[in-house]
Amino acid sequence: MNESLLAEKHVMYVKDLFRHPAYLIHFMADHLKMNALYWGLGTLFLLKHQKEFERSEVIQFVISCIDESNGGFGAAPKHDAHMLSTLSAIQVLKMYDAIDELTDEQKDRVINFVKSMQLEDGSFQGDRFGEVDTRFVYNAIQCLSLLEALTPEIVNPAVEWILQCQNFDGCFGMVPGAESHAAQAFTCLGVLAITNNLDKLPNCELLEWWLSDRQIEGGGLNGRPEKLPDVCYSWWVLSSLSMLGKLHYIDGAKLQGFILSCQDDSKGGISDRPDKEVDVYHTFFGIAGLSLLGYGDLTPINPIYCLPVSVTDTIKQYPYRFT
Ligand code: FPP
Ligand code: ZN
Repeated sequence: MNESLLAEKHVMYVKDLFRHPAYLIHFMADHLKMNALYWGLGTLFLLKHQKEFERSEVIQFVISCIDESNGGFGAAPKHDAHMLSTLSAIQVLKMYDAIDELTDEQKDRVINFVKSMQLEDGSFQGDRFGEVDTRFVYNAIQCLSLLEALTPEIVNPAVEWILQCQNFDGCFGMVPGAESHAAQAFTCLGVLAITNNLDKLPNCELLEWWLSDRQIEGGGLNGRPEKLPDVCYSWWVLSSLSMLGKLHYIDGAKLQGFILSCQDDSKGGISDRPDKEVDVYHTFFGIAGLSLLGYGDLTPINPIYCLPVSVTDTIKQYPYRFT
């Protein structure tokens, strides 16, 4: 059983993932590439090894994924724009302090793409095909925040819609009335936090208890009652508790033990639970969880934006003072 973070192995794992075409094709389906780039680069930033990727190559790849028909970003070149890949693209640029490397026209077009995804009830769809859930509201609000383009006309209805997604047990579902799920706590609290509306949340205490109940014997966290623990919920639950100022509701030492037990000690990477196949998603969110727990000398991470704190320092707070 691993008792410490195998940082060097994880760096190698991420580097290999983006180097071996066979692995890219097998694991990283095209529709996940932009998200995977955010998880991979994010992992390197948290481990202070971001220099392993060539900055200019990464930025060039991101820009090559712009969907010329609407200005949003696709998951890979020539893919249709989607809210999930658009946020990852903007986050990657933000990590490199490269948002200003977009032209004014590119910025305006991506802002307009994101805004065009908002529906009359305040929610957002993921793309023109119309799937709606709290993830896309979070995607939109974080994107517009990083691009300094939030306005009350966008924010107010979005916040009203998010508040409707809270259930009687205190947690949130994907849409109003849907089953409570820990990842939806992150997306909904994230929207409220980015827009300075956390104080609008009723039933905070219920939500805090619901989140703390996610820790099960063995230390891992699950996403819903009666489910198995999964490393990624270290992030969805801990970031939510952190936004509420209640990180101490979780036994950090036990959770740390669970995350570390999910490492692959030969090839690196972290899996969802012990002895399963590793992937870059669980590697990133496992290390992000450890960062929130203050493990070792990992780069501190911002629980609201899921970006290194050093990067989020420059974000202008909404409502902006001079607009
Ligand atoms: C669980 O997925 C996770 C979610 C539903 C939330 C995803 C959030 C986003 C895409 C917003 C952007 C996030 C960040 C960090 C910037 P799952 O389908 O794997 O859950 P399962 O455990 O039910 O399989
Ligand atoms: Zn998972």
